[in-house]
Amino acid sequence: MTALKNDRYIRAALQQPVDCTPVWMMRQAGRYLPEYRELRAQAGNFMALATNPELACEVTLQPLRRFDLDAAILFSDILTIPDAMGLGLHFVAGEGPAFHKPVRTEDDVRKLFVPQPEDKLKYVTDAVSTIRKALDGSVPLIGFSGSPWTLATYMVEGGPTKNFSIIKAMMYQQPHLLHQMLDVLADSVIQYLNAQIEAGAQAVMVFDTWGGVLTPRDYREFSLNYMQKIVAGIHRTYEEQRIPVTLFTKNGGDWLADMAATGCDALGVDWTTDLADARQRVAGKVALQGNMDPSVLYATPERIKAEVATILKSYGAGSGHIFNLGHGIHQTVEPDHAKAFVDAVHELSRPYHLV
Ligand code: CP3
Repeated sequence: MTALKNDRYIRAALQQPVDCTPVWMMRQAGRYLPEYRELRAQAGNFMALATNPELACEVTLQPLRRFDLDAAILFSDILTIPDAMGLGLHFVAGEGPAFHKPVRTEDDVRKLFVPQPEDKLKYVTDAVSTIRKALDGSVPLIGFSGSPWTLATYMVEGGPTKNFSIIKAMMYQQPHLLHQMLDVLADSVIQYLNAQIEAGAQAVMVFDTWGGVLTPRDYREFSLNYMQKIVAGIHRTYEEQRIPVTLFTKNGGDWLADMAATGCDALGVDWTTDLADARQRVAGKVALQGNMDPSVLYATPERIKAEVATILKSYGAGSGHIFNLGHGIHQTVEPDHAKAFVDAVHELSRPYHLV
């Protein structure tokens, strides 16, 4: 395997020394970029982009051409797995993702199966290998998946939800049914992430966007348990390279120590937890990714820079910090503000890495 020209992201995820703090942005490819909107309009819709490896590659590279990012992330979606299970993914304008065939009954759950990555998800691994080739070792490529719990919320609710009433009713009335579903999903995620790694993903991330709506006990039983299974089941080394794995539970700040105990390499942190507190809670076990409020990008470049300085100071000296937003970049952010953010991280972080 060719050596990476910029391996700051991998080194920070493994808590190895770096010259400055690496930075990337969740949802860095997307609608805030005019060049994305143009390509998406030509393709017709989001899935037309995501299922075409050449277009997915082009969209992945768009933010890297504008900004000095330390990682690329595969352009795809967490809902590819339920889509491959035949649930009929579609996007309702202004409402977000929905499924034609939500999973509600015992019969629905019995019909679920582990999609074979080389079959219905081949467009994803093809995109990974196309992007890897195009990156040519410039920065690492991050692969990803949703957590079993987060995927299940979309599959059971079937459309937009405020209270997660349908899946929580299932959780309290038929917990065995939900566990059965989460088991199939955990196996699917393991196979899916391993296929991404085999196709060239150099790190992976598990997005648990909705774990934070659970009680601490339910979080452990219905979300964290299954993420632990994934951490244990995926390739942690591939072709002699360590493959760092990051877990991110939005609103999961209170549970960082439990999450670190899964044996993952890094944890995503949103802006509701101070990085100094987060660092104390994980006690050196894992690296931390985060955690600027994406809304800070609405502020002036000067104010953005000040916020970056505050977060760097909060994490403190030494490696183990991957700078990021605490959640995805908003659609209405000015690309120039994203540039000010990325540049500020590199410029202001060097003093924290002097030995
Ligand atoms: O970060 C990146 O640049 C990589 C691409 C990526 C997308 N989705 C592209 C996308 C990643 C990592 C995701 C993950 C994802 N998808 C999550 C977890 C992360 C998070 O934000 O919490 C979730 C919950 C989803 C489900 C999903 N897919 C939503 C809520 C939406 C937005 C729907 C809408 O209409 O606003 C999508 C669609 C989607 N996935 C878009 C993009 C760029 C927008 C599609 C478009 O062009 O209309």
